[in-house]
Amino acid sequence: MTGAGVVVVGSANLDLVLAVERLVRPGETVLAQGVSRNPGGKGANQAVAAARGGAATAFLGAVGDDADGRVLTAALVDAGVDTRLLRVVDAPSGLAVIGVETSGENAIVVAAGANAVPVSLTPADEQAIDGSAVVLAQLEVPLELVVAAGARARAAGVRMVLNAAPVRTLPDALWAVLDVLVVNEHEAVVLAGAADDPRAAAVALLERVPEVLLTLGAEGALYVARRTDPVVVPGRRVPAVDTTGAGDTFCGVLVAALATGVPTEAAAERANVAASLSVQRAGAIPSVPTRDEVDAVLAAH
Ligand code: RIB
Repeated sequence: MTGAGVVVVGSANLDLVLAVERLVRPGETVLAQGVSRNPGGKGANQAVAAARGGAATAFLGAVGDDADGRVLTAALVDAGVDTRLLRVVDAPSGLAVIGVETSGENAIVVAAGANAVPVSLTPADEQAIDGSAVVLAQLEVPLELVVAAGARARAAGVRMVLNAAPVRTLPDALWAVLDVLVVNEHEAVVLAGAADDPRAAAVALLERVPEVLLTLGAEGALYVARRTDPVVVPGRRVPAVDTTGAGDTFCGVLVAALATGVPTEAAAERANVAASLSVQRAGAIPSVPTRDEVDAVLAAH
């Protein structure tokens, strides 16, 4: 298999979304105002965002042999994502239960299911990685798979981007092959260990990775890289309906631009616009904007 500018290694989940006035607290029961079921999962969201962002995109992940798996596969295909590297495994498809409160904030619990089944890189996976410009991964799938994909990317001279979500300690073997790290404030502080301030944490992480993008929600993003001054990507004030998947949209659109040679700073500006469009719509995959929508916003400024 050849031709994918971007290979996304990651999870696919069916998102069960409960609209609530406010997120539930421990020991509490609250009534939802509405329920919806959407295709999601950080990997699938990012693959769709890369494809809608204009990149030929392949998705390397797993679903179960069930109705949710078929919904997830169809959503990827509908978005133009190449699903030939998608495995159908002997486990239920991943499920995420997501509370979304009126402010647009969310809380997510994931039952990994098929995403947690150990998988190794096949010759087809390796060929796809070797022929790509960028590999993008997150941490909702076995770490061994992410490390293997990263090592393969590094050996092939392909750029490796990691969105360290949900955050966990990274092995040296993964740090060694990363080119770009995308983290939110919480993830930056956890990964840096010592620093409490997310911006200081992002700078500290440059000891492990050449480029870091710190996403700051409505405040935009901060780009830091070795030997250059930090760059602020300003936030866009928009009415947020649902922030689910906004970080994934950022990552997918970022790598779609990187795959065509756009410098990281300018790619982050596109990604920031795309994320600001996604929060104005409900759902993860349903909220991902097209390249034309992003271009229209950029042209208006
Ligand atoms: O980042 C949002 C995603 O996190 C949701 O789509 C959910 O499936 C979880 O993976």
